[in-house]
Formats: sequence, structure tokens, C-alpha cells
Amino acid sequence: MILIIYAHPYPHHSHANKRMLEQARSVEGVEIRSLYQLYPDFNIDVVAEQAALARADLIVWQHPMQWYSAPPLLKLWIDKVFSHGWAYGHNAKALQGKSLLWAVTTGGGEQHFNIGSHPGFEVLAQPLEATALYCGLNWLAPFAMHCTFVCDDETLQTQARHYKQRLLDWQEAHHG
Ligand SMILES: Cc1cc2nc3c(=O)[nH]c(=O)nc-3n(C[C@H](O)[C@H](O)[C@H](O)COP(=O)(O)O)c2cc1C
Repeated sequence: MILIIYAHPYPHHSHANKRMLEQARSVEGVEIRSLYQLYPDFNIDVVAEQAALARADLIVWQHPMQWYSAPPLLKLWIDKVFSHGWAYGHNAKALQGKSLLWAVTTGGGEQHFNIGSHPGFEVLAQPLEATALYCGLNWLAPFAMHCTFVCDDETLQTQARHYKQRLLDWQEAHHG
């Protein structure tokens, strides 16, 4: 099962993520949990989230980039759901052997990431990748959709289809 943990603060205003979700939804064996719709009060049901993760083989964190990072509810979700004794710590094996895909959309293009002492888009994955690896997850090459501010509808749609293909390829590789 592929579990998409979707964190868009304004899902009804989305262009890029909405199209990605539409494509993902058409893949059999995909479950989507839209965090901002499930938890508008930020009161995350940890038991329900851990049960969903237990069913998953591939976990996807899908969100728009916000200030070079993830929206706050996804950060809170990780803080609460990846708990000690369950996700990490002595004998904690709940996530071991599962895979994790970071699927992110960004308004900016390449230049947007070429600032600061650690330029480039790839470095932004570091906190998420380290978190995943620390919990025994298999980190996959991220899926990124850039330049969403200027993309026309056709480009967004093409990218969204690539996203679907990533999910299908993963299924084929893991289930034959
Ligand atoms: C509060 C906020 C912060 C943002 N920060 C960034 C950013 O740091 N880098 C970037 O490229 N885009 C940034 N964006 C733009 C969003 O990433 C972009 O609008 C989104 O990926 C488009 O996807 P959507 O159509 O599904 O909303 C930001 C948007 C908001 C609302």
C-alpha cells in the first residue's frame, strides 16, 4: 500500500498539488490522508496515523514548499507520530524497511535555491532524509515540481503524470 501524507494548508487553492493528487488517486492501492482537512485544529490522532503507517509499504510526504521547508502541520505530524519506542529507540521497528518519498512543489526555480552558505535544492532534503534514515526508512530520490508560479496548466498536468508514473514504477518494482 502507498500512503500519501498530504500537507497543504489551503487545499482548495492548490493548482500543482491538486493535479498530483488527482493522478495519484487513480493508482490502485493508494491511500491519501489530507492532514489539514483531517486536523484543522492541529489535534493529530496519533493512533490513527500510526495504524495507517503500519499498513503502508511506501510513505509519501507530499506538500508545497513553505519558506524552504515543510508546512507546520507536517512538522507537527512527524514530531507526534514518529514517537519514541515506536519509530525510534530501543526495539522500535515500526517503520523499518518501509520506503519514503518526498514529493514537493515549489514556486521558485533553480535560482531561488542558489542563495546562502548551503545553496541548491538538494540540501533542503537533509532534515527529512536524516529523519527517515534515523527511523529505518529507505529514502527514495525526491520528486520535485518546480516553478509552479509560472507553469501553465499543461506543464502542471505533465508533471503530475510523471508523479503518477513514479508511484506505478515503485509498485511494479516491489510487487512485480
Ligand atoms: C507561506 C508560503 C511560503 C512559501 N515559501 C516558498 C519557498 O520558500 N520556496 C518556494 O519555491 N515556494 C514557496 N512558496 C510557494 C509554494 O511552494 C507554491 O505556491 C506551491 O508549491 C504551489 O503548489 P499548489 O499549487 O499546490 O499550492 C510559498 C508559499 C507560501 C504560501
